[in-house]
Amino acid sequence: MRWLVTGGAGFIGSAFVRALRPGERGSAVLVLDALTYAGNLANLHAVSGRPGFEFELADVRDEEVVSDAFERFRPDCVVHFAAESHVDRSILSPGETVSTNVQGTSVLLEAARRRPPERFVQVSTDEVYGSVEEPRLADESFPLRPSSPYAASKAAADHLALSYWRTFGLPVTVTRCSNNYGPRQFPEKLVPLMIANALEGRPLPLYGDGCQMRDWIHVDDHCRALLAAVERGRPGEVYNIGGGCRLPNLGLVRRILRLTNRPETLLEFVPDRPAHDRRYALCSEKLETHTGWQPQVRLDDGLQRTIDWYLRHPEWVDRVRSGEYRDYYERNYGWRSRVAAQSECR
Ligand code: NAD
Ligand code: TYD
Repeated sequence: MRWLVTGGAGFIGSAFVRALRPGERGSAVLVLDALTYAGNLANLHAVSGRPGFEFELADVRDEEVVSDAFERFRPDCVVHFAAESHVDRSILSPGETVSTNVQGTSVLLEAARRRPPERFVQVSTDEVYGSVEEPRLADESFPLRPSSPYAASKAAADHLALSYWRTFGLPVTVTRCSNNYGPRQFPEKLVPLMIANALEGRPLPLYGDGCQMRDWIHVDDHCRALLAAVERGRPGEVYNIGGGCRLPNLGLVRRILRLTNRPETLLEFVPDRPAHDRRYALCSEKLETHTGWQPQVRLDDGLQRTIDWYLRHPEWVDRVRSGEYRDYYERNYGWRSRVAAQSECR
């Protein structure tokens, strides 16, 4: 099997590439990645010397480069992770998010239309559904009501990808996963930011009252779900991938404090994110029925292993937090230092 993986130097893409074990059982992998602030070649260290593995520094918006990669590599399967993936960044500068997430997907779909793979996986997110009222769960027919520019750009890309199935018969599968956590996640996202701050004894900034609900899934369970969707899922379908582990941010952050042995006095409530979705809740029955996939990692085990990884790799965090990241945070997130009211979730 020949896999073309975009965004393979990022958090989830690199976990997926490692799971493919390039070079074994005839598997060949080509990663296309622009190495933005979120891309990190160190994430691919475990596979970089293998015979079946290739890396190409490439922007998915570059038609010529993408088209050449399809011609040369002739992938059987495309798994499209490359994206601007952070909601807060999309609020601060929507243009880059829209350009990468929509235009980049369009360029890839066009290349795939000219040289069709057996499967094109559009890796998407539960954020496209927007906030889901208690006690409902969003299944794949739930209306799309994205709140942030990030979520709207992913919804647009999903629609575009599915239109290529309907119009051109390109075998597209869209997957919509809930919030991932695990090793090598960039420390702008909730879990790694809170782990890094807790380990350094710095405040843990919770937006608003901290009672927003998210459904957490370990990155390895997400990768197993993607493989199941390729191997046993159907083209033209959308599959939700949820961890089945819903809890408020405050509850999650308290677990991190407990597991790192740090005091609750580190919690800090800061002003809320604009248009912050209150609750994400997915129904993943369709993927379970079609493929037999089930999440395997229990939250406390997964969190403990993630904390252990960050403890063992302080140099990884230091490197990604230096330079551009630090400047960016100082420029844009000064508002975090203002403290909002305390809170308790029901
Ligand atoms: P990430 O930010 O860690 O990695 C994104 C990768 O894409 C980086 O390696 C970056 O260099 C690359 N990239 C960005 N712009 C590019 C461009 N123009 N051309 C080529 N490469 C480019 O993101 P992640 O958390 O690993 O997310 C991967 C995918 O999964 C995204 O599509 C995201 O929407 C989706 N997703 C993420 C989550 C989550 O919780 N992190 C949940 C559901 C879905
Ligand atoms: P995030 O990791 O940015 O993922 P997403 O917005 O894609 O769900 O945030 C997860 C939740 O944590 C979300 O409700 C916002 C909240 N959050 C904070 O409270 N403080 C923070 O510093 C960050 C980064 C997120």
